[in-house]
Amino acid sequence: MQHRPLHVTTGVQHSQTATGHSYSRLVLGIETSCDDTGAAVLDETGKILGESLHSQTEVHLRTGGIIPPVAQQLHRENIERVVQEALGRSNVHPSQLSAVATTVKPGMALSLGIGLEFSQRFVRQHNKPFIPIHHMEAHALTVRMLHPVAFPFLVLLVSGGHSLLAVARGVDDFLLLGQSLDVAPGDALDKVARRLSLTKHPQCSTLSGGQAIELLAKDGDRMKFPLTTPMGKSNDCCFSFSGLRNQITMIIIKKEAEEGIEEGTLLSCVNDIAAATQHTVATHLAKRTHRAILFCKANNLLPSNNPTLVVSGGVASNQYIRKALSLITEREGLGMLCPPAKFCTDNGVMIAWNGVERLREGIGILSPNVDVYYEPKAPLGVDMTEEVRAAGIKLPRVKLEIPS
Ligand code: KG4
Ligand code: ZN
Repeated sequence: MQHRPLHVTTGVQHSQTATGHSYSRLVLGIETSCDDTGAAVLDETGKILGESLHSQTEVHLRTGGIIPPVAQQLHRENIERVVQEALGRSNVHPSQLSAVATTVKPGMALSLGIGLEFSQRFVRQHNKPFIPIHHMEAHALTVRMLHPVAFPFLVLLVSGGHSLLAVARGVDDFLLLGQSLDVAPGDALDKVARRLSLTKHPQCSTLSGGQAIELLAKDGDRMKFPLTTPMGKSNDCCFSFSGLRNQITMIIIKKEAEEGIEEGTLLSCVNDIAAATQHTVATHLAKRTHRAILFCKANNLLPSNNPTLVVSGGVASNQYIRKALSLITEREGLGMLCPPAKFCTDNGVMIAWNGVERLREGIGILSPNVDVYYEPKAPLGVDMTEEVRAAGIKLPRVKLEIPS
């Protein structure tokens, strides 16, 4: 991607809406990296003036997973309306915007392309600065829209496409402590849910895989299916979920044979399988996060006053997982902050907020005519995974007793 920054004056400036109200600078945020078409207008204080979100979850649940060209077509059909809705609800005319911020990395190529193409046309038409956004940076910073969390803080991002632990040292300054070696936890949960045919469950027909597993786990007994927590022998902060998914698939196959049913039929023990799955994902996330905290302590990477763990991404809306993580943060003397579920999953607000943060600091603001390219794969920050592994930190035993 080319970077020809525009000179932007920092500090709060003001513009007026059609109704004559005065706001600080306004940013339009646009998100299309996966299966949500989102747009929002924020002022510089983080006030949401208007937003719109079109979720594709229902369509993808019907087809049994995200088919990239289908996601692309849905973004194409909805983007104009979603952006107009966000502007309309804000009562803001494009001429009043100070910048447009759009996710350009990482994500699904076909989906990213729609948001980027739309945005580049839009900024050229209205002659507005453009702020390309890193989707994971946006997830990590969302919390600062809601709470005054100062840098540095530790962040765990867990979604359908990513799982990573990083120290956020500044708006565009991250130390990557660990990430998934294979799939993300949300992806594993979605695939387990699909293998269990949970869309056929009367309570789960419209829920994402992770939501379905959380709901069913409430009435399940996790002890019925003991699962091995992944990567018990690797003393690092990386994650792995595909082996866990295999363990669960083997259990499902065995139970289907026992119950004499075929794949595609609901098992009688779905609640217990959901509970065991959720507990093992929670334990794995808690252990890696625990090691990240100890690594940060050993290397003075977090402030001694009010050190904080921020948890975000779609999987962070899971209350059981939050509880597991909070047992670790309480033990280690950290505070824990999670944005509300609505801001944990993909949306235009978090992209607009990242735009606000970058606008305030004057980082990565491009003139409208600069050609920007999307990047399906994009690392976040400086890779410290080798340093973490070399430290070989052993974890103390912690009992994760979590009421479901
Ligand atoms: O952040 P997000 O909206 O999109 C990505 O960037 O991936 O996260 C979506 C993922 C899906 O895999 C979904 O199953 C998972 O987050 N998810 C959950 C819950 N709600 C959504 N996982 C566990 N528990 C939940 N309550
Ligand atoms: Zn996301």
